This record gives sequence, C-alpha cells and structure tokens, in this order.
Amino acid sequence: MTVIAQHMNAIRQSAASAASALAMELIRQGKDVIRLTAGEPDFDTPDHVRIAGIRAIIEGKTKYPPVPGIPELRNAVCRKLRDDNGLAYEPNQIIAGAGCKQVIFNALAVTLNPGDEVIIPAPYFGCYVDQTLINRGIPVCVDTTEANRFRLTAEQLDAAITPRTKWLILNNPSNPTGTVYTPDDLKALAEVLGRHPQVWLLTDDIYEHLVYEGAEFHSLLEYAPDLAERALVVNGVSKTYAMTGWRLGYGAGPVPLIKSMVKLQSQSTSGACSISQWAALAALEGDHGFVAQNLAMFQKRRDLAVKALNAAPGLSCVEPGGAFYVYVSCAGLLGKQTPDGTVLASDGDVVAFLLNHANVATMQGGSFGLSPFFRISFATKTELLEEACQRIAEACASVR
Ligand SMILES: Cc1ncc(COP(=O)(O)O)c(C=O)c1O
Repeated sequence: MTVIAQHMNAIRQSAASAASALAMELIRQGKDVIRLTAGEPDFDTPDHVRIAGIRAIIEGKTKYPPVPGIPELRNAVCRKLRDDNGLAYEPNQIIAGAGCKQVIFNALAVTLNPGDEVIIPAPYFGCYVDQTLINRGIPVCVDTTEANRFRLTAEQLDAAITPRTKWLILNNPSNPTGTVYTPDDLKALAEVLGRHPQVWLLTDDIYEHLVYEGAEFHSLLEYAPDLAERALVVNGVSKTYAMTGWRLGYGAGPVPLIKSMVKLQSQSTSGACSISQWAALAALEGDHGFVAQNLAMFQKRRDLAVKALNAAPGLSCVEPGGAFYVYVSCAGLLGKQTPDGTVLASDGDVVAFLLNHANVATMQGGSFGLSPFFRISFATKTELLEEACQRIAEACASVR
C-alpha cells in the first residue's frame, strides 16, 4: 500500500523544472549544455526593487502579513489594473499569493466540484491541466493550430462548452507560443462567453508587458466589462520585473470568489512573503524604463531565433508576438534517422536528440499538449542563443 493518494498518479512533475534539472545535471557532469528551457528573464531584479526588499527587512516588515496581502500592495494592484487595463477593482477584490501559480491553484480549489470541466486551449502552460486534476476537475484541452497562430477560436470555444464547464483559462500572451490575441479575437470569445452564463473566465496576463512591435496586449474584459462578475484576472511580477524567485502574483475578481480564496489561503500558506510584497509594490509603482530596454533586447533575440530556426532543415516556426518563447514545429524531422541510427518518432525524440547531439536543452511540445513541436526560451544571453540556434541547425542538417 502506498501512502500517496491515487489522484496523484495523474499529476505530472512540472515539465519546466524537470527539463531544467536534467540540463543542470548534464552541466554538472561537465557537458557544455546551453539551456533554452528557462521561463524566466536572464537579468536581475531591478535595483530599486531589490532595495525595497532590503528596506522591508531592515524596517522589520517581517511579521505575518494580512492573508490577502498588505493593503498598500492591493491598492497598487487596483491602480495598475485601472491605469494599464482600464479595469475597475476595489482592494477587497484583490488577493496576493506566492506567484500566479498559487493564485490559480486557490481559484481552482475553491470553485471546482468533482467532474467540473475547465477549458484549456492547447498548447498550454502545464500547470492549468495538472492543477485542474489535483482539484478533481476535468481538463478539456482544445487543440489550436499553427495556421491560426495557436489562437482559440470562438467556434472552438462554443463547441467545447458543456453544462459542466466551470472555467475557460485564457493565457494572453501565451506560454509556450507567444501568441497575442487581437481585439477581434477577444470580442468573438467574449460573445460566446456572454451566451454561457455558467462559464467563468480566468485570464492569465503574466506576459502582458512582453509584447513586440506590431502586437498589442488587451484584456478580454476591456470588451466585455459585464464578464468581470465571473472573471478572475491573474497577473504577477515574475516576468516583467525579473522576480521569479520572489514568488509574488495576484488575482482580481468578484468579492465572494476572492473571499473564498483568502479563506483557503488562511489555512494553507497564510499569505505571500511580506518582504516580496513590499518589493512588488516598488516594482508596480516604480520606474518602468527598464521594461522598454528589456523588450528591445528580447525583440532582437526573437528575430534572430525565428530567422535561424526557420532556416534549419526540418524546422519551422511562426513569429511570436509576445512572451519570450518560440514554439517550433519539428514535423519535418519525424521519420528521419540521426547519425547514430535512431529514428526520430516524436517531439520527445527530437528534444532528446538536440540535448544529446547538439548540447541544447529545449522542451518537448508533448508537455504543452500539442505535438510535434518544441519550445525554446529566448530569455537567454544573445551569444548563447546564437550559438544554440547554430547547433540546432547543424544537428537538423545531420539527419537523413
Ligand atoms: C503563463 C504563465 N502563467 C504563470 C506562470 C507562473 O507565474 P508565477 O511565477 O507568478 O507563479 C508562468 C511561468 O512560467 C507562465 O508561463
């Protein structure tokens, strides 16, 4: 008899942490592996934010914070949502948690009854599926297509909704594809949601500030303010402010939902780290000049990666409008033989081949729910990214 509950059999280890751990182990063994697996910026948290964290420690802001978050931060989140997104929230509609992931977990845990369905466009950020399963819900994954730039269409959403649908999770811009939904896309999805009053919307906007020339971030709620009554906006400081290790995310939603999430949080973590909350406040309220600088650098890296990967035999990719990932089709490599005689039968094989033969760590599309693809992160030093793309291209040229 095992001590582990049965439902854990269906839960996967976070693919990003597993891929990173494997690459780190190879590096420890002395291999010259370039990691394109990381879902985090390669630069440090801005100085003024770090100083705010240090100041919080020195000033003794180190006691239990209020479970939903310090009032100063919740006020700042309301201002941010108003100024950046045109959304009206009061502080009692805000919860801070240990990263977006915990906020999403809280939301699913307090809303899902066994068998409730959660619509998740694929490819997806893996935790949506596994957190749904942990909370006894049923993930309903809807495959998007590369031809439609990995966007969920209104028709697909309509067809996926059943009387058991509780949530649609929309991640915009998307991990792993960098897809940015247009205003027309969002209006069409909003129209469908308007016809299905039992369906709630969870919009994960964590990459909202990482959007490149030609694309613009908009929240679906801008076009359907009425849906705010059954929506949870999730966001955080991890990506924009290079604060992944501080573990600070937030949610904004109707009071009864937030109250329940706070109740759950009061019995689990007691809230987010007080020091991180003061640092997040400085991030939200402080100078944003570095965001544009980082964006310009990310855009250059995106351009070089897209160009190099599209030129590699057997690979193709669409240009991501946001985030820092490229979702690369490796359909052209399947069925081919590597120099050591292995036949590449899946994107998992391609990722293993790139790791073992090219010393480049990527993530297989299977872990994001749509094959045959792999994801690279271009939040990687430019020289390393160039070198990695060259190695990938050479490896692709070596298969027959
Ligand atoms: C779409 C998406 N949402 C949420 C997160 C996690 O955010 P946090 O660090 O705030 O938990 C990630 C991290 O990779 C992500 O890609």
